[in-house]
Amino acid sequence: MPHAAFDFETVLDRRVVPGEKWDRYAGRDVLPMWVADMDFAAPPCVVEALQQRLDHRVFGYTDAWPSLKNAIVDAMARDYAWAVDPSWIIFLPGMVAGFNVACRLAGDVGDGVITAAPVYPPMLAAASHHDRSLQRVDLVPGADGAYGWDLDALAAVATGRSRLFLLCNPHNPVGRVYTRGELEALADFAEARDLLICSDEIHCGLVLEPHARHLPIATLGPEVARRTITLMAPSKTWNIPGLYCAFAIIPAPELRSRYRRAMRGIVPHVNIFGMVAAEAAYRDGEPWRLALIDILRGHRDRVLACLGAFPELTVVSPEATYLAWIDCRRMMATRGIDDPVGFFEAAGVGLSDGRPFGAPGFVRLNFGCPRSTLEEGLARIARALA
Ligand SMILES: Cc1ncc(COP(=O)(O)O)c(C=O)c1O
Repeated sequence: MPHAAFDFETVLDRRVVPGEKWDRYAGRDVLPMWVADMDFAAPPCVVEALQQRLDHRVFGYTDAWPSLKNAIVDAMARDYAWAVDPSWIIFLPGMVAGFNVACRLAGDVGDGVITAAPVYPPMLAAASHHDRSLQRVDLVPGADGAYGWDLDALAAVATGRSRLFLLCNPHNPVGRVYTRGELEALADFAEARDLLICSDEIHCGLVLEPHARHLPIATLGPEVARRTITLMAPSKTWNIPGLYCAFAIIPAPELRSRYRRAMRGIVPHVNIFGMVAAEAAYRDGEPWRLALIDILRGHRDRVLACLGAFPELTVVSPEATYLAWIDCRRMMATRGIDDPVGFFEAAGVGLSDGRPFGAPGFVRLNFGCPRSTLEEGLARIARALA
């Protein structure tokens, strides 16, 4: 059993420290299964590295150091056969900052940013922060429920003023890991219209489906790489989002300097602890990650088996992430409900609302928690639906 060495069972009381996920329902008997962080302790290798750095007791200004960059370079080579030069890496205090910088440098006021919905809400909001216009295309569910691209619809939203294609892969919330064929079609689309690509790949370490492989879009070839800003972070995979360390990989020198210029004076340095944790995670965190994947795959299957028994709900099986995307529209129509999140909160489970993702009538369930917590959440949902 690969996970015997790690503890994914102990329920840690997160209410004893401040935190978004559990604070939302303070004083209420509602299990929080909403925002995308997990209820597991960070990997031992990460905690030990942080403790060692903490013991030094001096926390001065610190730029990214060579062994940190090398840990990322080695991980890209190991996981994606991607030969990244350390000079291509720009550290960021978060992914959201990273794709906002991309919007800022892409074209001028009024130009277009294309993205596919439903999607992580800050990706829908980013264009307007920089007076760009959002050009939204909708992903479409296929016969098997898995979402995919409508390339005609994508072509239809593009205009002569489109400048940036904001991609989420693996995709939050629909859990897709896009195939080489799909990514090639998207890259062709970007090339035909001379668009920059900003690819948010924060969930790349969380591929659950054995047949699926994450492919950074920039690895399709030099033509794609030269127009692409790839954003990654250790935060989702190793459950350290509060440490706020992310990075952009930008192979093209000119695009990289434009990116640095757009960050200037606005984007702060990354916290030392975020960088220490990132180095430990990329260098030593693989056994923990593999064990986690095993656990999450089991949790996903349990969610599908349990909620799949209720024809009022349609649950998308995520190929990646610890997030299940649930279509509640039939349930709403049958029961005359207009607020599915409120319905599940009344049942004692806190889910994410689909509306800010661009999909009213949907909810998102986070199954990144110990099995006992998951079982309790599913039992509450089942009781409410029975
Ligand atoms: C697709 C995606 N991008 C970015 C983030 C957040 O990144 P950060 O906290 O580093 O800004 C999330 C968090 O859920 C996400 O799902």
